[in-house]
Amino acid sequence: MKKYIARNTVILILVMLCCSLLYNLWPHNRAALQSVFYKGKQALCRNMKVVRTKYIYTRPPPWSSGLPVIFAITPTYSRPVQKAELTRLANTFLHVPNLHWIVVEDSKNTSTLVSHLLQSTGLNYTHLHVETPLKFKVTGGKKRIPPRGTLQRNLALQWLRQTFSVNDSHPGVVYFADDDNTYSLQLFEEMRFTTKVSVWPVAFVGGLPYESPKVNSSGKVYGWRVIFDPHRPFAIDMAGFAVNLKLILTKPQARFKLTGVKAGYQESSLLTDLVSLSDLEPKASNCTKVLVWHTRTQTPILRKNITGLADLIGEI
Ligand SMILES: *[C@@H]1O[C@H](CO)[C@@H](O)[C@H](O)[C@H]1NC(C)=O
Ligand SMILES: *[C@@H]1O[C@H](CO)[C@@H](O)[C@H](O)[C@H]1NC(C)=O
Ligand SMILES: *[C@@H]1O[C@H](CO)[C@@H](O)[C@H](O)[C@H]1NC(C)=O
Ligand SMILES: *[C@@H]1O[C@H](CO)[C@@H](O)[C@H](O)[C@H]1NC(C)=O
Ligand SMILES: *[C@@H]1O[C@H](CO)[C@@H](O)[C@H](O)[C@H]1NC(C)=O
Ligand SMILES: *[C@@H]1O[C@H](CO)[C@@H](O)[C@H](O)[C@H]1NC(C)=O
Repeated sequence: MKKYIARNTVILILVMLCCSLLYNLWPHNRAALQSVFYKGKQALCRNMKVVRTKYIYTRPPPWSSGLPVIFAITPTYSRPVQKAELTRLANTFLHVPNLHWIVVEDSKNTSTLVSHLLQSTGLNYTHLHVETPLKFKVTGGKKRIPPRGTLQRNLALQWLRQTFSVNDSHPGVVYFADDDNTYSLQLFEEMRFTTKVSVWPVAFVGGLPYESPKVNSSGKVYGWRVIFDPHRPFAIDMAGFAVNLKLILTKPQARFKLTGVKAGYQESSLLTDLVSLSDLEPKASNCTKVLVWHTRTQTPILRKNITGLADLIGEI
């Protein structure tokens, strides 16, 4: 019996020894495994070119008195994707130095949704509103005349003229930045030093991969690479040009026309009051690069038609 207990004790001690040995060895083994794995990875990395990105933009958006201000005008209206679109736009603008965002709602009053969003971005902004009268709201599949956002863009121009004086305004540039486009950060640096009106290509408009001003070998705009009505004075999309602030201030009559404007002529109705073709400044490497895309957002399929999402469910 004694012999039996002694043998069992020896077995027990042996089992415990084995366990402790395993326990001590296991992490070592894992580390060894990992080191082999990383060595393999390092060998792989040595053969790859490492691209180091220099961070040009930091948060909060830098403000420097030496740089011209970009006044980005965004008309907006209540719809399910409104907050998503404005959030995406704000995220882009946060990387742009000296940007002042002018958001104009198509509504009776400013909404709490847009107010809260603007406050939380930390951007420099002005929040305006004007409701498009019912007579301008064409329904039943017809194209809107004037297009959506016309009154809102004009109100923003009016605000600029009331706020800044021709003689003592800080250098600036005015850009119509709709909330359904995608903007490269490079675009803002291209437009910043616009003397009169600068122009560049815009992707996914007029049934083309991109529309563009035609630039000749002396770097002058002489026409338009478009399919839809190339004979328009300025066959260019809203996102394809920027105007010097001083030019807006010195031409107080210039605005988007509300009546008698054919489809596709809205941009021309403003630009003909400001410049002629020979004044245009081609940007984006003489209009050979696309820096803005008319991407749009798919309208979500919802079970209910919601117009005032915020009014319905409160702040979302
Ligand atoms: C419009 O909104 C502002 C601020 O959100 C509020 O103070 C004002 O009472 C509102 N006006 C009307 C007519 O609803
Ligand atoms: C906002 O703009 C004003 C000038 O219009 C400038 O003095 C101020 O620093 C700007 N603020 C921010 C946070 O960019
Ligand atoms: C701006 O300056 C010009 C010339 O110095 C002067 O004629 C004009 O009245 C000024 N405009 C304003 C709005 O102060
Ligand atoms: C644009 O074209 C003009 C004329 O050929 C040339 O002088 C200029 O350097 C070009 N600019 C860019 C940014 O490529
Ligand atoms: C480019 O266009 C401008 C304006 O139309 C014109 O004056 C110039 O002669 C043109 N240059 C060439 C090389 O065609
Ligand atoms: C929503 O409105 C559109 C057009 O106004 C209509 O065609 C559609 O049937 C409506 N959908 C629902 C779920 O009411």
